[in-house]
Amino acid sequence: MTKAIISINHVTKDFGSVRAVNDANFEIAEGEFFSLLGPSGCGKTTLLRILAGFEVPSAGSIYIDGRDVTLLPPNHRPVNMVFQNYAIFPHLNVASNIAFGMRRSGLSKAELAERIEEMLELIRLPGYGERGAHELSGGQRQRVALARALIKQPKVLLLDEPLGALDKKLREQMQIELRQLQQQVGITFVFVTHDQEEALTLSDRIAVMSQGDVLEISTPGELYEAPRSRFVADFIGTMNFFDCIVGDYRGGVLSADSAELGPVRVACTTPPAAPGEGFVLAIRPEKFQLVFDDAGASANTVRGRMGPSAYLGDRSHFYVYLEGRNEPVSVALPNLARSLDRIRGVDQEVWLTWPEDAAVLLPREE
Ligand SMILES: Nc1ncnc2c1ncn2[C@@H]1O[C@H](COP(=O)(O)OP(=O)(O)OP(=O)(O)O)[C@@H](O)[C@H]1O
Ligand SMILES: [Mg+2]
Repeated sequence: MTKAIISINHVTKDFGSVRAVNDANFEIAEGEFFSLLGPSGCGKTTLLRILAGFEVPSAGSIYIDGRDVTLLPPNHRPVNMVFQNYAIFPHLNVASNIAFGMRRSGLSKAELAERIEEMLELIRLPGYGERGAHELSGGQRQRVALARALIKQPKVLLLDEPLGALDKKLREQMQIELRQLQQQVGITFVFVTHDQEEALTLSDRIAVMSQGDVLEISTPGELYEAPRSRFVADFIGTMNFFDCIVGDYRGGVLSADSAELGPVRVACTTPPAAPGEGFVLAIRPEKFQLVFDDAGASANTVRGRMGPSAYLGDRSHFYVYLEGRNEPVSVALPNLARSLDRIRGVDQEVWLTWPEDAAVLLPREE
């Protein structure tokens, strides 16, 4: 990791009897696009507000750019925050909105005008300076809010669900723009979202939170392909879970048994537990293949029946029922697959197969 710009040192925040953040302890690197991801109420906004200086932690400390800022008020920190609901002034035009925090910056009128023009270029609204704020679309307003935060050239920009109010299409477009803009200006972004797809799209690294705890900090790829807990595996994308019992481990391959899947073989560097003990096997929907001819009873093969399916344009989602398992297995296939021609519908007999390196091993949580 390059130099840390933010150090969060054993930070805890209690509101009365509610522990909003529990012993957060990690660093964010300079220039990183870092996301806080988790379900509603898990403590994302609280942690962001602690970084901004709107909340003081109950315990722990915050360092930004090498300085202890734990007790510093917001306006003395080298950070700026962008809120969810377009926090721009409706009675001011675009240029005045962008210049709002710069009145005491010491810049001359001409210098400020130049900086505003640069910002308008950056957010791809050149020539919009005289436009009234009420004459802008939701996406344009959010870009103006970004420009207003960026013109102060903060070391760190804190963003709390800044795209939350936008419709899906605009949101996806803004995600790409936001990422490009961040790379262009090179400022560290700390971005809060409860949308896992958004976090995967944008981030260099993601901290997954649950009930005040930071469960795991990883790159999008690692979180998706190799989550370290059942919560994270479940929260990011779709995951199928199967209880298994450890058998023997030889040549980098674990043999195991599952009441629902039968014998399974998994490539792994270390077994997840001792022989005879339980673990959880997790398989993503797209790791399965559907087989329509009797695939026999070998390892990593299980017979099932087709349940309902959903056509999603680029891919289709299928539910497959296994004997002895209530919950259907979720299977995804790209719609270009020739095998789709052979699907006849609900109740059809099928076999699921998956490669030895397709599964994730997780500890069994009591
Ligand atoms: N000022 C406050 N006083 C009391 N409790 C608070 C306060 N602010 C937050 N909380 C509580 O702290 C917990 C974390 O809240 P927080 O706003 O950080 O969640 P969040 O992850 O941002 O959720 P969301 O996705 O819904 O915005 C919640 O249980 C919330 O009710
Ligand atoms: Mg929040």
